Amino acid sequence: MTKVITYGTYDLLHYGHIRLLERAKALGDYLIVGVTSDDYDKSRGKINNQQTLMERIAALKATGIPDEIIIEEYEGQKIDDIKRYGIDIFTVGSDWEGKFDYLNEYCKVVYLERTQGVSSTSIRAERRTVRLGIIGDNFIAAKFLNECKYVNGVAAKILERDKYESEINDFDAFYFVTNPTKHYDEVKSALENHKHVLCESPIALSSLECDELFALAEKNNCILMESIKTAYSTAYNRLVLQIKSGKIGDVVSVDATCTSMREFQTGNLSLDSGWNSICAWGPTAMLPVFQILGTSYKDCRIISKMVDQKSKFDGFTKIDFIFDTAVASVKVAKTAKSEGELVITGTKGYIYIPAPWWKTDYYEIRYEDQSENIRQFYQLDGEGIRYELVSFLKSIETHKDMSNVDRTVTEAVTKIMEQYYTKENIFIR
Ligand code: CTP
Repeated sequence: MTKVITYGTYDLLHYGHIRLLERAKALGDYLIVGVTSDDYDKSRGKINNQQTLMERIAALKATGIPDEIIIEEYEGQKIDDIKRYGIDIFTVGSDWEGKFDYLNEYCKVVYLERTQGVSSTSIRAERRTVRLGIIGDNFIAAKFLNECKYVNGVAAKILERDKYESEINDFDAFYFVTNPTKHYDEVKSALENHKHVLCESPIALSSLECDELFALAEKNNCILMESIKTAYSTAYNRLVLQIKSGKIGDVVSVDATCTSMREFQTGNLSLDSGWNSICAWGPTAMLPVFQILGTSYKDCRIISKMVDQKSKFDGFTKIDFIFDTAVASVKVAKTAKSEGELVITGTKGYIYIPAPWWKTDYYEIRYEDQSENIRQFYQLDGEGIRYELVSFLKSIETHKDMSNVDRTVTEAVTKIMEQYYTKENIFIR
């Protein structure tokens, strides 16, 4: 029996794929198809797949062509598979000509002519393109615009604030990275005009405003997403999952620190920009607290060192949370420097993410017995922004909330903002 193997992503299965599979099958008696896992695709920069691994497998199965489907999860797996399954022929389309010659050492390699005029990329591009207006004139807006290049199905442009009203109907969606004290009004106006919104956190400074915005989004059938890019880092997501599955026992403390002084030192930060320490860093630093311990804390204390009382600009803020079975602390600063690390303490061990943890691709699980320590590495491209954008576009397309930041987390973040701006807090001099 001649065994043949071929690999691919097979997103939005098209006749180019089917022709390839039919010819691959005709090369032998038994065809194995390796389908790339979502993680593997992500690690090789393929972030635009419209379908999940299971959807792609289901479509392949439905063709009735493969005799067996396997999942391709890592670089170099092809050699392992060829040996494990006793493969006689490896085949792929001619777009890969020459790239797999190294497999000749293990089996015969055949390049089949690629079908002209069709690809998953072109099908994705034909789908409706979301016209995205970016509002904000800081470096984050520029960074965001640059990331849009890596994502299919979006045409983005930075829009000057004074053109927003006159050009609003040229856009389907907006990303706001403006003064946080203006977010509520801006998001509200976009939603009232039936535009989808991705807004840099915090989206509002009071719980009432936050509820109102979500209700408006629902009423007008719009997606409203809070932007916290760390929520899209693969390493960060994996560590949250590992904690939830008990890897370090019960969590007793979450301690997150985020500081950045550059804007202050270069004089690029005006005190009335709204980007004080708590707005600029609070949501990111609180993310692991609320995602790991939940949002039902019993008590919360905010302590700040102010730079300017009038604009409520805190140069440094520490927030202490008390939960039923754990505590948490968050330190954020724009006029102080500290180690930007995240430590999650558990009853069996702890997780340590080195600075800058909010854009990490690496973390360690550490135990009393150091020989049990585990190091984890997951590639992160574009600081998570491009994955966040993919989630936003998928939410728009499917009319389902695909955000990695639950609404409960957004509500909890907003509640802390309200506490900071309206309640009696503690100040240090
Ligand atoms: N293929 C083909 N003809 C096409 C498209 C793909 O023969 N028009 C083959 C590829 O050479 C590969 C297999 O189908 O052997 C799976 O390819 P995949 O990368 O999943 O499909 P593409 O359409 O090329 O995807 P993308 O546009 O995302 O690169």
